[in-house]
Amino acid sequence: MLYENPRGYDHIHDSFAEDIPFWIEVSRRAIADVPGGTVWELGCGSGRVTVPVALAGIPVVGVDAQPEMIDAAGKRAAAAGLDVGNPCFHVGSMEALPEVATQRQTPEGTPVAAAIIPLHSLSHLLEPAAVGACLQGIFRLLAPGGVLALAVHLPDLETLQRDPAALFPLDLGPGILAHEQSRYDAVTQILHCRWWWEVDGEPEEGGPHLHQFDLRMFFPRELETLLTCAGFVVEERWGWYDRTPLTSARGTQIVVARRPLGRP
Ligand SMILES: C[S@@+](CC[C@H](N)C(=O)[O-])C[C@H]1O[C@@H](n2cnc3c(N)ncnc32)[C@H](O)[C@@H]1O
Repeated sequence: MLYENPRGYDHIHDSFAEDIPFWIEVSRRAIADVPGGTVWELGCGSGRVTVPVALAGIPVVGVDAQPEMIDAAGKRAAAAGLDVGNPCFHVGSMEALPEVATQRQTPEGTPVAAAIIPLHSLSHLLEPAAVGACLQGIFRLLAPGGVLALAVHLPDLETLQRDPAALFPLDLGPGILAHEQSRYDAVTQILHCRWWWEVDGEPEEGGPHLHQFDLRMFFPRELETLLTCAGFVVEERWGWYDRTPLTSARGTQIVVARRPLGRP
């Protein structure tokens, strides 16, 4: 599993940094709205986003279900010269945020200004109950006026209807040769994926490596409805991190929603 191998994960994800200014800007606005607030990154992985957010001077807590990823995130923070204390990291599931908050002994007086979920991590919650528990947990975790910002794939029918036996080239950044195969279940809305990748010209890296994972697809109106039912107000929807509008032409949907002031 790729998430047990942070080095492999970083190999195929560290070249992607286009989203980082967006997460910093969303976090900065949120802590301005909620004085003394912190930002939680859910599914923080090896700290690709958490560490730059902390380097921007924003207090941030990274939560991930995979201990190996949390270990790598701590090492990334130390290598960046960050003090112990910001960022903080915690092994835990985004489905079980009340327990995570209790384990962290988050004091009542430390408001959470934002929860950010970059790079499709929410799509790892495959069952409707898990998504519901996660959104309700975030709502309760956030201070009134706090923000939830997340990025997931925009389901694209051409990709979902691909021949499950066929291999397609995959762009994982410079120097990486990669292919993918996928099978979509239209009832569960789960895309079952297999990626094969190897580092071009570096046989000592071994490979090709296989990464198998499942992603729950969220259709745009469905995501809006899920957020609204959990109590959020959807304020922004984007198709890319430079705030390109969300249209059918883009493969990503980015949503910024708020826990309204005054709603229990
Ligand atoms: C695509 S990676 C994103 C990592 C990081 N946010 C980034 O942008 O590079 C997805 C991460 O979600 C984590 N994850 C999957 N299910 C989770 C859950 N239920 N709770 C917390 N983290 C989870 C995985 O361990 C993995 O590190």
